[in-house]
Amino acid sequence: MSNFEVIIYEKQNDIGYVTLNRPQALNAYNLQMRDELYQVQDDPEVKVAIFRGAGQRAFCAGADLTEFLTAPSPVIARQVRWERDVWGLFLSITKPLIAALHGYVLGSGIEIALCCDIRLASEDAQFGLPEVGLGIIPAAGGSQTLPRVIGRAPALEILLTGQWINAEEAHRLKLVNQVVSRRDLLPAAERLANKIKAYSPIALSHAKQAITRGLDLSLEQGLELEAKLGNCLLTLPPSP
Ligand code: COA
Repeated sequence: MSNFEVIIYEKQNDIGYVTLNRPQALNAYNLQMRDELYQVQDDPEVKVAIFRGAGQRAFCAGADLTEFLTAPSPVIARQVRWERDVWGLFLSITKPLIAALHGYVLGSGIEIALCCDIRLASEDAQFGLPEVGLGIIPAAGGSQTLPRVIGRAPALEILLTGQWINAEEAHRLKLVNQVVSRRDLLPAAERLANKIKAYSPIALSHAKQAITRGLDLSLEQGLELEAKLGNCLLTLPPSP
């Protein structure tokens, strides 16, 4: 996993760090980034992961527009782009994922953040979904994940108007959990990660699943899921 060029993957003290690393292109999400992210998979040596962007200006300025222009057609470009279901992979990870967001968080940038469980933003963060203005719609789950996080009306407003919002507004809409200074962004994410990783990994995984899977169920089914996941924990042998 060390031959990456457009992401950096590091591990320290049970925390995985995934850094989008194309700062010269504001970390725009290209095919290579998709392929490299796909290889990170679920690392057994990591208890919690932090996603961030390299450079001072952006977490991610969306899909790489130059790939749109060079592909045979936007339709094929999209098809190729999403053939590897990196988003399905992220959403299937039952470990806690934290997004540390700064600067431009556009298009796929928001969508990566929405695959995470807790989002922190620095004061300079700006969020937007420019897809409709480009004649397309989000293809990395954003049309589904955004309304699940902030609700239908605000999600529709952001998507249909292409209006960008700042960190304060993103916090008001509950798109991000906390706004911190730029300098405190990574330390704040690490504080959260350190707190989380002290708990039982299986309890964390079941708690995450109870919420993320349960949200798509009826209340009755959700309660059944909760009981099932809770019972699994009770039947586990005590930790040594
Ligand atoms: N794809 C490819 N390259 C991108 C990019 C993207 N989505 N976003 C930025 N870049 C590149 C620029 O082409 C530029 O490269 P260059 O220095 O080789 O010319 C570099 O990143 C810096 O961007 P620049 O546009 O010069 O910075 P800016 O401060 O003037 O504007 C943005 C910043 C984010 C407003 C502007 O880059 C932008 O609108 N990007 C596209 C956003 C978008 O529509 N994303 C697609 C969503 S589906």
